[in-house]
Amino acid sequence: MKIAVLPGDGIGPEVTAEAVAVLEALGLPGLTLFTGDVGGAAYHRHGHPLPEETLVMARAADAILFGAVGDPACDALERHLRPEQAILGLRKHLGLFANLRPARVFAGLERLSPLRADIATGLDMLIVRELTGDVYFGAKGQRTNDAGEREGWDAMSYADSEVRRIAHVAFRAAASSGLPLISVDKANVLETSQLWRDVVVEVAAEYPGVTLDHMYVDNAAMQVVSHPERFGVVLTGNLFGDILSDLASAAVGSIGLLPSASLGERETEFGTFGLYEPIHGSAPDIAGQGKANPMATILSAAMMLRHSFGLEAEAVRIETAVAAALADGILGGDLGGSHGTAAIGAAVRERL
Ligand code: NAD
Ligand code: IPM
Ligand code: MN
Repeated sequence: MKIAVLPGDGIGPEVTAEAVAVLEALGLPGLTLFTGDVGGAAYHRHGHPLPEETLVMARAADAILFGAVGDPACDALERHLRPEQAILGLRKHLGLFANLRPARVFAGLERLSPLRADIATGLDMLIVRELTGDVYFGAKGQRTNDAGEREGWDAMSYADSEVRRIAHVAFRAAASSGLPLISVDKANVLETSQLWRDVVVEVAAEYPGVTLDHMYVDNAAMQVVSHPERFGVVLTGNLFGDILSDLASAAVGSIGLLPSASLGERETEFGTFGLYEPIHGSAPDIAGQGKANPMATILSAAMMLRHSFGLEAEAVRIETAVAAALADGILGGDLGGSHGTAAIGAAVRERL
């Protein structure tokens, strides 16, 4: 079982180290870890945010554990050299179109949410975010328009097949969990969204047991914090999913708690090939201070064991240990506590 560990920038290496330590503490036989450079760290060493050797390592692995990329020192570089291109490139090159972002308030941990406890208690949703299309990957540029003014532009589009394959992922998740499915779009304004909605309705015919609703993204943002219990599986595009998942993480308590799995169609001998990362970024404001909450990355490692290695019991062990640490008051600064990265990692390992 080969895992490519790509720590990246800022707090990426700090949180990844704790997730790796948790994996090692499980003592799983046959696990081999390789480490590669990505992001600003790779740019500074190799002149490119996603060096060929990192891509080769990623392809050769059964799963990827990713930290975060992003470096303010790189913000003035041409776009193709910026750290963020590493994660976008990995997702695209590896065909990882299905991004699963579970957001839930653990029972008894409603107090971590900024929402009223009676509202927070119903928050348990799986955001299924399309990850390799949308305005992220369309043509873009800057130009001078007819009025002689500078103009920035980004093309948003979705092909039928792109919507269809991610819709199937969401419908399967809804069918197997018995949860209702809400597809989030902006079909009242965007043609991309109208096509999205039409395809989702077509796919729905294949899943008669799943309850499907559509919701505009502005309304969805409002309801995530006012009626989170209405959401079970949430199907949405790349941009809306990016925004809604940060919002959902804040409703849970902190962005430092939300893991993710990015999956495609490739199967290995152990499970589905995937990339696993916290939903947060490199957090330059707290990088290098030992303050970052590693729980989102640790929970991402649990998702990796589940989806890429079929190790459900070990995944649950990690998730239970994280919940137990939180219940015992092991809280990072992001949750109003004073535990640092290493202390949180150690507390989770003690509770495995
Ligand atoms: P961010 O997620 O890095 O940080 C937002 C806020 O949340 C900051 O105040 C930060 O301190 C806090 N935070 C984030 N993770 C935390 C953790 N684990 N523990 C405690 N606090 C945490 O978002 P940003 O500031 O908008 O972006 C910073 C950089 O990260 C940018 O370069 C951005 O492009 C990049 N980014 C990368 C990824 C990724 O690698 N997948 C994701 C998001 C942002
Ligand atoms: C995320 C991040 C990325 C995204 C950026 C860094 C490209 O915000 O993983 O949520 O927008 O997908
Ligand atoms: Mn994001």
